[in-house]
Amino acid sequence: MSPVDPTREYAGLVAAVTGGGAGIGLAVVVELVARGARVAALDVDPSGAPDGVLGVRCDVTDRASVDAAIATVVRELGQLDVVVNNAGISAVGSVEDLSDEDWRRVLDVNVVGIARVSAAALPHLRDSEAAAIVNTCSIAAQVGLPQRALYAASKGAVLAMTFAMATDHVGEGVRVNCVCPGTVHTGFVDRLLATFPDPEKERAAMGARQAIGRMVTPEEVAYAVAYLGSPRAGSTTGTALDVDGGATHL
Ligand code: NAI
Repeated sequence: MSPVDPTREYAGLVAAVTGGGAGIGLAVVVELVARGARVAALDVDPSGAPDGVLGVRCDVTDRASVDAAIATVVRELGQLDVVVNNAGISAVGSVEDLSDEDWRRVLDVNVVGIARVSAAALPHLRDSEAAAIVNTCSIAAQVGLPQRALYAASKGAVLAMTFAMATDHVGEGVRVNCVCPGTVHTGFVDRLLATFPDPEKERAAMGARQAIGRMVTPEEVAYAVAYLGSPRAGSTTGTALDVDGGATHL
């Protein structure tokens, strides 16, 4: 394979990133733009989308909203090649602490949200020569993190769904992979920290969980997502790429 100008890696491609208004999703948006993609940020609050990015209001728990958002991307940007299913929320607690409503809410965003967005996108992805879906999973799918029973269940489902989706769509030329970040310093983590009795102690514990001794950066996750979504990863489907500072295996 001849060397590729990194700023042209995604030239001619259109990507939609859910949860693209903040945190990891926003870093993915920035990375894909830097690699030459035209990008839409689909978010309940798309106001954080940078200039030159199509911000689309979208709630992944609402099928009509998802269908309308994907239609908007295709109408405005002409096609859809890469979908990054990144929108996600957390919940802290053991199974004794969590209500049925907590379970419904988190699974609806983190799991069914991916199904809704992917279902809306697939008819367009099948038209692409470079179709890819990248799901944001988590180390919580594979490691027993304390007080994360619901979140872990949701991400375990994302991991399993990634493999199943990869199988369903490999014959249609659509690759499906996921990234499993360790703890990444975003607003998501700041909100989580605020729910602990001693946030500073928990912050230190979160950093120490990674063998590298610090939290992962959103940009480090974005780089991995950009790789998996790229045509250069054409032989990679049905995989989970850890970006976890060694938290899972070291
Ligand atoms: P964040 O809270 O900083 O950003 C999430 C974005 O998703 C926000 O812009 C929010 O408005 C949007 N969003 C939330 N619910 C939505 C919905 N129903 N429809 C559309 N958009 C919605 O979170 P962060 O940290 O960037 O997380 C992104 C993904 O990464 C999530 O799936 C999360 O589970 C996953 N993750 C995060 C880790 C972390 O330590 N921050 C670690 C591992 C995975």
